[in-house]
Amino acid sequence: MKKLIAGNWKMNASLAGNETLVNELRAGIGAPACDVAICVPSPYFQQVQGLLAGQDTIVMGSQNVSSHESGAYTGDVSATMLKEFGIRYAIVGHSERRLHQAESDTHVAIKAERALEAGITPIVCVGETLREREEGMTEFIVKRQLAAVIHLVGHCISEIVVAYEPVWAIGTGKTATPEQAQEVHGVLRTQLRAATEHADKIRLLYGGSMNAGNAAALLAQPDIDGGLIGGASLKAADFLAIIAAAQ
Ligand code: G3P
Repeated sequence: MKKLIAGNWKMNASLAGNETLVNELRAGIGAPACDVAICVPSPYFQQVQGLLAGQDTIVMGSQNVSSHESGAYTGDVSATMLKEFGIRYAIVGHSERRLHQAESDTHVAIKAERALEAGITPIVCVGETLREREEGMTEFIVKRQLAAVIHLVGHCISEIVVAYEPVWAIGTGKTATPEQAQEVHGVLRTQLRAATEHADKIRLLYGGSMNAGNAAALLAQPDIDGGLIGGASLKAADFLAIIAAAQ
């Protein structure tokens, strides 16, 4: 299975910076053996789409998608709108949205369903807080979060991507060890095997301070099929090094 390396720029973008970063990525990416996506803030979809024109190695993703199909939902962007901009992936349920936007497991599942309906691959984020880990709740939390999506999307579950992002590792530099990450990825794989015969084809990404120095060890784990990269995706050399580690 081809690994997937997806960059999540979060709310870090500018016209000039995007042009520099994308052009550096295009110049250095070569012909990677993995799939590569960059999830950009929606005001820049058109600009980044133009910068990516003429190549099919790097594809675009979004960082969110509306749970609604269309209508009076001010500020929302629907899955069909994203599709019109050539968006291939949509992050749903990122811990920062679960926290700051009070997105529930059900809300996340509906967003995943909307993405699938529009032909966009949802990257479903699950992960525990430090307190939940310290209380031994990690398995319960990630299985609960994933179960909501499995329950709603049914047989389409084989079309999703899952990202395990321990909240305590996001933006902290405190990366999960390969063993810690593999343990949770193994739990998710087992849960998916109970839901679909195609579970081994579902890509499980790790996110949370993955960088050029630790990517190879994480990606060598049997159930880590790629990465969802925050800070390191904003620096071309670092992101390219992670892509190289995913061969
Ligand atoms: O979605 C990826 C992100 O949450 C990870 O961020 O900066 O720890 O790589 P970072």
